Amino acid sequence: MAASRFLLLGLLANLAFTAALASDNTPLQDFCVADTKSQVVVNGLACKDPKTVQANDFSSSGLQIAGNTSNLVGSKVTPVTAAQVPGLNTLGISLARIDYAPWGINPPHTHPRASEILTVLEGSLEVGFVTSNPENRHVTKVIQKGDVFVFPVGLIHYQRNVGNGNAIAIAALSSQNPGVITIANAVFGSNPDIASDILVKAFQVDKNVITHIQSKF
Ligand SMILES: *[C@@H]1O[C@H](CO)[C@@H](O)[C@H](O)[C@H]1NC(C)=O
Repeated sequence: MAASRFLLLGLLANLAFTAALASDNTPLQDFCVADTKSQVVVNGLACKDPKTVQANDFSSSGLQIAGNTSNLVGSKVTPVTAAQVPGLNTLGISLARIDYAPWGINPPHTHPRASEILTVLEGSLEVGFVTSNPENRHVTKVIQKGDVFVFPVGLIHYQRNVGNGNAIAIAALSSQNPGVITIANAVFGSNPDIASDILVKAFQVDKNVITHIQSKF
């Protein structure tokens, strides 16, 4: 009797705990097209009245146009996120076109909120990501037109065009707003600067090396 009462109590406690953790992690309506004029602050963007939603809310144009790669890294990302397509709000996906000049790079960066799956439309790319501590294993290969590569959420990754022509890739990401942290810009180009003596210890180099790199960002 005592044992079965104990079991029942345990079961109830377990149920209560599960209920406390339960929440919907998928959308609760067909769509929540972003109301870009709303002042309401939510995790994502407020929905506009579904009756006013139009096909154009789920559409954008121009992804056939090459990005301008005349910059220091030789690449250009053209995003298609909830900022460009309001219908993506709450759906957990987005897209980007990436253009690469010959030997251009998409510098080491992470997406704090998304895994990425990338396919090559033109050219050849050297791609890679690095696993977390303590292994810091560098997983890398060269991929060709038609190949696909996956960058797991949060891991530092990069691409380089390893051809003498332009390269083009399309990346799909598992967030309406993946976010981008470009390592060099975040560490050496923060505003205000991270104290150089912190970076001296972190990177184990002289202060003049740190101030030189900081001056580039
Ligand atoms: C590409 O960007 C460079 C540098 O900002 C600029 O000088 C050039 O005019 C741009 N080219 C086109 C076609 O927009």
